[in-house]
Amino acid sequence: MEKKNRVATLPQPNPMCGGDGPHSYARNSSYQKAVIDCAKTKIKEVILEKLDLAHMCLDLNTFKIADFGCSVGPNTFDVVQTIVETVKRRYEQQNIREAQKHLEFHVFFNDQSNNDFNTLFKNRFLSVCKPYFIAGVPGSFYDRVLPRNTINIGHTSYTLHWLSKIPKEVCNINSLGRNKHNISCSNLVEEMSKAYKSQFEKDMGDFLGARAEELVSEGFMIMSGMCLPDGVPMVRTWKGVAIDTMRDCLIDMANSRILNKERVESFSLPLYFPHMSELEEVIKQNECFSIEVLERMIHPMEDLPLTNDFIASTYRAIFHGLIEEFFGDGVVDELFDRFAKRLETHPIDFQTCVKDIQYFVLLKRNSH
Ligand SMILES: C[S@@+](CC[C@H](N)C(=O)[O-])C[C@H]1O[C@@H](n2cnc3c(N)ncnc32)[C@H](O)[C@@H]1O
Repeated sequence: MEKKNRVATLPQPNPMCGGDGPHSYARNSSYQKAVIDCAKTKIKEVILEKLDLAHMCLDLNTFKIADFGCSVGPNTFDVVQTIVETVKRRYEQQNIREAQKHLEFHVFFNDQSNNDFNTLFKNRFLSVCKPYFIAGVPGSFYDRVLPRNTINIGHTSYTLHWLSKIPKEVCNINSLGRNKHNISCSNLVEEMSKAYKSQFEKDMGDFLGARAEELVSEGFMIMSGMCLPDGVPMVRTWKGVAIDTMRDCLIDMANSRILNKERVESFSLPLYFPHMSELEEVIKQNECFSIEVLERMIHPMEDLPLTNDFIASTYRAIFHGLIEEFFGDGVVDELFDRFAKRLETHPIDFQTCVKDIQYFVLLKRNSH
């Protein structure tokens, strides 16, 4: 098949594992769903308390919602349904009766163009309930993907740590050998952290700039995801340790000549988890939005000892596409078998890891 020998020169941001098989994101995303579950309580609160339909610049009969980085479901349907139901209650609360009679919802599901949109749109929930009008919007959310001044509520969850690309300085640093044993930003090598941070700032600036154009005046942008407590390096969290375990498996595979050593040394993940203050700072830079809420949520699995099988299947569903694109076919099974085994022989010590932070942010679009 054409794809077999085609490998990317740099690791590319890649969608989650498609389909609905045992390794798919659809069946291995309960960790991300738990974040959405906590955010749902806050989403209801902020819509009922703060969404001002009377002053929002909108066609009162058609309410438009966009989920950026929706993946293949089912999490996206869960959060969108909460937004739809709560907005209906808000219409009742604000007594906008005439519009209520004709109220319709139009939902835009955005992800990268190689996301498995077929699986997304085949979901039974959509065909059985027909809950709203839907549209798929392929394209990077770091650019404009929707017309100007159209969206009433934008949402994104567990997406903004995916950078648009590996910063070029990281590739240079890798080639100088200073970082060849790291596959992500551990926050231990200063020049590395700087390069990742500045790519994150650029990407977040682009994300917010694009959303500022797409949202109507008084529109909401709701964002949730993970960041780090100030001063805590990524390597001290369990997710950082898991990424290092994945790196160790890649190095083992290179030592066993299953993978090319130089290729493993040049591998990095296009991920950056900002510190809480960095996140706040970059959001403040965009003067089109006012920050209505920026707070910490407790992840429902924060105090649970996660099983090794759970970690391995969650990581596989996330990184499958990226690994295959960079190392070629046939590597994913071997890598994640080794990963699961290594987690057994070198278990993550959750007691000594520092807890990461789950954030909830509500931004309001200032008047155009
Ligand atoms: C961990 S998944 C989260 C999916 C879903 N929001 C959830 O909570 O289950 C991250 C998603 O962000 C998408 N993504 C990453 N970078 C993107 C970009 N630049 N533009 C659009 N989507 C992107 C990925 O393709 C992936 O589907």
